[in-house]
Amino acid sequence: FHAAAEKFCSVGSSAIQDGGRFTVALSGGSTPRGLHQELATHFSSQLQWDKVFFFWGDERHVPPDSSDSNYRMAKETLLSKLPIPPENIFRVPAELPDARQAAAKYEQTIQKFFRLGPDSFPRFDFILLGMGPDGHTASLFPGTAALQEKDHLVVANWVEKLNAFRITFTYLVLNNAPCVMFLVSGDEKAEMVRRALKDPGANLPCQKVRPVDGELLWYLDKGAGLRL
Ligand code: 6PG
Repeated sequence: FHAAAEKFCSVGSSAIQDGGRFTVALSGGSTPRGLHQELATHFSSQLQWDKVFFFWGDERHVPPDSSDSNYRMAKETLLSKLPIPPENIFRVPAELPDARQAAAKYEQTIQKFFRLGPDSFPRFDFILLGMGPDGHTASLFPGTAALQEKDHLVVANWVEKLNAFRITFTYLVLNNAPCVMFLVSGDEKAEMVRRALKDPGANLPCQKVRPVDGELLWYLDKGAGLRL
C-alpha cells in the first residue's frame, strides 16, 4: 500500500505539473482501504488535493449512504480526511432507481468534464482497479454483457450471480489511460493472479485491461503474489 501510494502521488504530481490537474478513477471493494489509509496519513502533504478530481470506475446500484457503496467507502477512508473540494468529487448517481439512467448520467458527466465529443474517450491520468476471485475487475464480470461494449464509456451491467445491476466503466475508458494500477491483496487471490499474469488463454476480464498507450501495473502483497 505504501508503494502504491508513492506511485499514486508521483503520477499525480506529474499530472498537476504538466496539465494543472490529476484525474483519478477509484476502485471499489475493500482492498483500496489500505491505499486510502496511506494517502490520508503518510502522504497527506504530497499532493495539491484541490487539483485532484475523483471519479469511480464502478459502483453498486445502491444509494451513497449504503454500506455497499464504493463512494461511501472512499468518502469514509479517504475523501473526508483530505482537503478535497466537494466539487472535485464526481460520484455515480447510483441512487437512481433505473441503473441504466445512472450509467447514462455518469457518462454525460464524464463527457462534460473532459469536454468530449460523441466518439472520443476520456483519458484519466490514473485508474485504480481491483481483481475479484473470479478475475473480474471494476464491474466487468465473466460472462456479462459489458465485456463486449464498444460504444459506451459507462454501462449498467446485469450481474446474474449478484442478482443486481452494477454501473461500470467499459474497456474503452480503462484502456485509454496512461496509468492503470491493479492493487491486489491476500493469498486467496494468488491462483487467480497467477492465471491473470501467466495464462494468456484464461480469458479473464482483468486480462482485457491493456492500455493502448500507457503503463499497466500490478501491485501485489506477498499473499497475492505467492504463486508467481
Ligand atoms: C467492486 C470493485 C471490484 C473489486 C474486486 C475486488 O465494486 O467490488 O470495483 O471490482 O475491485 O471485487 O474486491 P476486494 O478488494 O474487496 O477483494
